[in-house]
Amino acid sequence: MTQAVQSHPKLYESQKLARWYFVVAITLFGAQLIFGLIAAYQQIDPNFLFQLAPFMTNRTLHVNAMVVWLLVGMMGGVYWFLPKETGREVVGITLAKIIWWVIVAGVTVVVLVYLFVQIGPAQWTTIWFINEGREYIEAPRWADIAIVLWVAIFLFNVIATVLKSRRITGILMVLIFDLVALGALYTAGMHFTVNITMDQFLWWWVIHLWVEATWEVLVGVLMAWALMYLLGTSRRLLETWLFIEVALVFGTGIIGLGHHYFWIGTPEYWLGLGGFFSALEPLPLVAMVVHAVYDAGGHRLGAVNRPAMFWVIVQAFGNFIGAGVWGFMQTLPQINMFSHGTQLAAAHGHLAFFGAYVSTVMVLVYIAAQNLRRPVHIPLNSRLWGWAAGLLILGIIGIGGAFTLSGFTQTLVERAAGGSTWAAYIQGYTHPWYANTLWWRFGFGLVMLTGYVLLVTDLLSIGKRAEAPKAVPQTAAVATGGGDV
Ligand code: HEM
Ligand code: HEM
Ligand SMILES: [Fe+2]
Repeated sequence: MTQAVQSHPKLYESQKLARWYFVVAITLFGAQLIFGLIAAYQQIDPNFLFQLAPFMTNRTLHVNAMVVWLLVGMMGGVYWFLPKETGREVVGITLAKIIWWVIVAGVTVVVLVYLFVQIGPAQWTTIWFINEGREYIEAPRWADIAIVLWVAIFLFNVIATVLKSRRITGILMVLIFDLVALGALYTAGMHFTVNITMDQFLWWWVIHLWVEATWEVLVGVLMAWALMYLLGTSRRLLETWLFIEVALVFGTGIIGLGHHYFWIGTPEYWLGLGGFFSALEPLPLVAMVVHAVYDAGGHRLGAVNRPAMFWVIVQAFGNFIGAGVWGFMQTLPQINMFSHGTQLAAAHGHLAFFGAYVSTVMVLVYIAAQNLRRPVHIPLNSRLWGWAAGLLILGIIGIGGAFTLSGFTQTLVERAAGGSTWAAYIQGYTHPWYANTLWWRFGFGLVMLTGYVLLVTDLLSIGKRAEAPKAVPQTAAVATGGGDV
């Protein structure tokens, strides 16, 4: 009798694939943390693993693992929700599965090359097979091509499914438009020129226009689906918000790109354009906070899936604080002239990536966990998820705070007071406000790693126990007559 109550909702093939996306994403999250910790320790003791695993390699692995796992997590979210949105299996799912395993194999090879080969001569073969040398997207060119193919197949899957289903919603329109831009922008980072200004000019198209435009919009789409699932928010309301947010994100973020053009040898007008438009970039993030709080307040908060609902709220505030506030504080050229390239940027990078994107993937994995483990109408909860979330959040606040302090010290001591001389540089780096924070970021990194271990434990167990027959009240089972619920 309890059999029927335990029955899992039927999964689409696309959702089964999404599960693999989430598994790989969470695994790479762990790798990111390990390499971050090693890099952080090497800043304390530069002799640690000297010549075996240099700081440069660990840092590369730290940031590349991050880009890959967040992208994989968000793509997993699309594969999860797409069949629900269109009411059918994803078209070309076999192709999607094949390219997925090609990508997993590719990432493994790239990581092994980073670890064991590390560097090569300044030749084309190095760019093609070892490292392209562009921060965040260091993947060698052969892997770039595989990545473009992967995104192209993903785009095909989405478009073909939408066409076949003959159901185009506002959310789907935004998604397709966004994915075209996201895929096309990646190719800007494959460009090669000996002119460093041109190189940086184009490289920022990927970095900035990903995280401050196309990724934000993708998050808007995923959050719209998540809120519909978690709170039953009306589609009309969600689509109205989505359109407003998308207009604001693109309206401010595209020219906001100029805040990376201040000092790289581009014309002076970028100071005004970049300063003005990027200063407006927090606006859509405020809209997102208002939206999430409005939705959460208007419905039964967290009734269905407590952890996912918690991370929705973390996402809204984290995005605003990490990207909006920490970004804004260094975006005006008058300030950026002193703070540029200090660890203030790293503070913002940590808080923004965590607030906006790590939390989004957390929402998605907990939604998937619920559907994989139990009938969807039984609320998902556990004691562990809160500890995991708490330690992860405490860890990132500590790391972000430590980087902020060291960044302020550089800005004040080295730049503003010392006038950027070599002596002032040394003074900044050896100042206690800087030196002490090296330990803080390592310590809080350990806190974060603990949170990660709890997260994995929780994801492997949440929802399982309650499935045991005794957890189902006999009366409920009788009342449903053992029918399919
Ligand atoms: C989720 C969204 C965002 C993410 C993930 C993000 C991430 C980052 C990262 C990682 C960097 C360092 C890049 C490097 O290695 O040089 C950076 C730089 C920067 N970001 Fe953001 N950012 C986001 C949104 C914003 C917003 C909304 C603003 C402005 C209001 C902003 C302003 C800046 C500025 C001015 C810099 C350059 C700092 C410097 O000159 O050293 N960011 N961002
Ligand atoms: C165990 C936790 C972590 C530790 C110990 C750690 C440590 C570090 C260290 C030492 C660096 C190099 C800074 C430098 O070049 O001076 C770095 C860079 C970076 N990390 Fe982490 N990190 C951790 C977690 C994370 C997480 C969870 C994220 C994002 C989701 C993240 C995003 C970044 C980014 C974007 C950069 C490049 C920043 C820039 O160039 O401005 N890290 N991290
Ligand atoms: Fe930017």
